[in-house]
Amino acid sequence: MTDEFFFGKLFIVLNRNLSDLGIELFLYKGGYFLNYIKVENLTFYYDEEPVLEDVSYHVEDGEFVILTGENGAAKSTLIRATLGLLKPAKGQVTISKKNVDGKKISIGYIPQQISSFNVGFPSTVYELVSSGRYPRDRWFKKLTEKDHEHVKKALEAVNMWDMRQKRIGELSGGQKQRISLARVFATDPDLFILDEPTNGMDEQSRKNFYRLLRHSAHKHNKAVLMITHDHEDIKEYADRQIRLVRKEDSQWRCFHMSS
Ligand SMILES: Nc1ncnc2c1ncn2[C@@H]1O[C@H](COP(=O)(O)OP(=O)(O)OP(=O)(O)O)[C@@H](O)[C@H]1O
Ligand SMILES: [Mg+2]
Repeated sequence: MTDEFFFGKLFIVLNRNLSDLGIELFLYKGGYFLNYIKVENLTFYYDEEPVLEDVSYHVEDGEFVILTGENGAAKSTLIRATLGLLKPAKGQVTISKKNVDGKKISIGYIPQQISSFNVGFPSTVYELVSSGRYPRDRWFKKLTEKDHEHVKKALEAVNMWDMRQKRIGELSGGQKQRISLARVFATDPDLFILDEPTNGMDEQSRKNFYRLLRHSAHKHNKAVLMITHDHEDIKEYADRQIRLVRKEDSQWRCFHMSS
């Protein structure tokens, strides 16, 4: 490798000892990209039944990837296993320890049908979303102008800026879902893992949201892995699709990759 391959922030990363950083780099379309997620030959069982068999996929920084498959195709199971919340029977899951700037990677995960905040939840929409701007070592500090800008952008992205003074308990299910998304945006993670985040959004809100995800990936080097059933709308926004399909020769209702 020579220096002529290096540019911008990648140069910073490559100047360090990569194995120390736990970083895996590979050549792609003439530039270097990081594998934020790498899953190899993953097999997962609930009790005695396999639901996923021999699944391999990866997600790099800078790309917007969707994960699709019929109801029950074990999409949620796959991302929970990817996050380390479920333990696979076989295979290996690697999440990069560092982001492209060589800093500790941060992940924003939104589970499917986020459990509703209870009705008495005292915060306002603005307070809840801005709480995403307090990293662990900064909770005692005041939010800066930039923090507030970020919160505003996040709320606008999900069409909830006008409702910022409302109490969480007064919101509908779909609105609660949207402010959960806004909070994840406010935390500004490197890797977004979203399980059917657009449920309950109308078509225009969905498109705005997809546009924002694509922008985050392409312009800010974020990686996005999103489960969705919304195949038609999403086509012009996503970079790549990972599809789980039913395995034909299995006695179980078991899924694997389509290709
Ligand atoms: N905790 C559990 N114990 C046993 N079986 C489970 C458990 N959770 C899910 N399953 C089963 O595993 C399969 C995959 O479920 P999963 O929720 O991952 O599917 P999905 O692709 O996310 O579906 P959907 O599109 O409906 O969200 C289903 O057959 C489901 O019934
Ligand atoms: Mg699911």
